[in-house]
Amino acid sequence: MIYNVYGHYLPYNRSTGIPPAARLVCVAPMLNRTDRHFRYLMRQITRTALLYTELVSAAAITRGRQTWMLKYHPIEHPVAIQLGGNTPESLAECARIAADYGFDEVNLNVGCPSPRVTFGARLMAHPDIVARCVEAMTKAVAIPVTVKHRIGIESHCGYRELQHFVTTVAQSGCKIFIVHARKAWLNGLSPRRNRSLPPLDHTMVYRLKDENPHLSIITNGGIMSLSEGRVHMKYVDGVMIGRAAYKAPYILADVDRLFGSETESPPSRHQVVVRMCDYLSREVAAGTPAARILRHMHGLFHGQPGARRWRHNLAKAMSATETTACCKILQEEVSHL
Ligand SMILES: Cc1cc2nc3c(=O)[nH]c(=O)nc-3n(C[C@H](O)[C@H](O)[C@H](O)COP(=O)(O)O)c2cc1C
Repeated sequence: MIYNVYGHYLPYNRSTGIPPAARLVCVAPMLNRTDRHFRYLMRQITRTALLYTELVSAAAITRGRQTWMLKYHPIEHPVAIQLGGNTPESLAECARIAADYGFDEVNLNVGCPSPRVTFGARLMAHPDIVARCVEAMTKAVAIPVTVKHRIGIESHCGYRELQHFVTTVAQSGCKIFIVHARKAWLNGLSPRRNRSLPPLDHTMVYRLKDENPHLSIITNGGIMSLSEGRVHMKYVDGVMIGRAAYKAPYILADVDRLFGSETESPPSRHQVVVRMCDYLSREVAAGTPAARILRHMHGLFHGQPGARRWRHNLAKAMSATETTACCKILQEEVSHL
């Protein structure tokens, strides 16, 4: 049985798989953001939402590198790992390793626009390759294999191409598609600009759901709040939130009550800080630099009176040489907010 730090059971039994409520709102994979410390922070705020790791290269894992990226705390369940790769054998082996580590889902990245990788969004032009990868992965593991992709790329950007991509990949065993509702521009736009350009088109994702009711379709891109998420949920099976969840993690505080089985109020921001201090002490004692954890807490008081002061004192806490001093700064700060 898994408990969160409040002593609540997580509404989750690994033998029955990821509960459907977890997919209504999920937190997007974000490189250099959604590491295990951020995911731990998110778990103090919502027990329901499905959390994703950062993108992990399958080749690196199968060569025994970056295995630290597979580390997670049991409280993070349900937690999905995102893999990047384009060879069925390597992805299947990596999926097996991830399943052995206890991840609840393996997600294949078909959305990364970086010219430096040989996988990601460019694979949208090769649905057959993605299908072979997914087939190998689904044969290798019992946990769900899902795909996160774009609505198109320059050379394949109509609805017909999108539908062809999804149906081809679905035939190989993928039933859950997370669609970043924006085309990827592989030439001339940096990965960063590819997150805000070209414009979003969620209606293409709605149509995908409408025409493929047997598939689970989750939309992603530009969703700033749970109320915006609820609007999308009229047309699709769930939403994935990225930057807004990182910038202001507390926007997910109502997920458990709105979409999970929680009846009590969510923990306050102050309670979250206190719990993160406990976590910080344990992690620092185990050798993690405090700044690696604290950097994710900048947005905790976003939009609240005193948010600026919180950020200022967080920076002070980051430079404290001792954990006790660091936690003292945070807890004193919280009592003033
Ligand atoms: C800093 C950053 C890193 C990202 N890293 C990944 C990644 O590793 N894998 C991935 O599939 N998408 C990645 N994305 C894209 C997000 O998962 C998401 O699709 C995109 O930001 C749109 O959603 P949003 O508007 O809610 O942020 C990243 C986005 C950001 C801002």
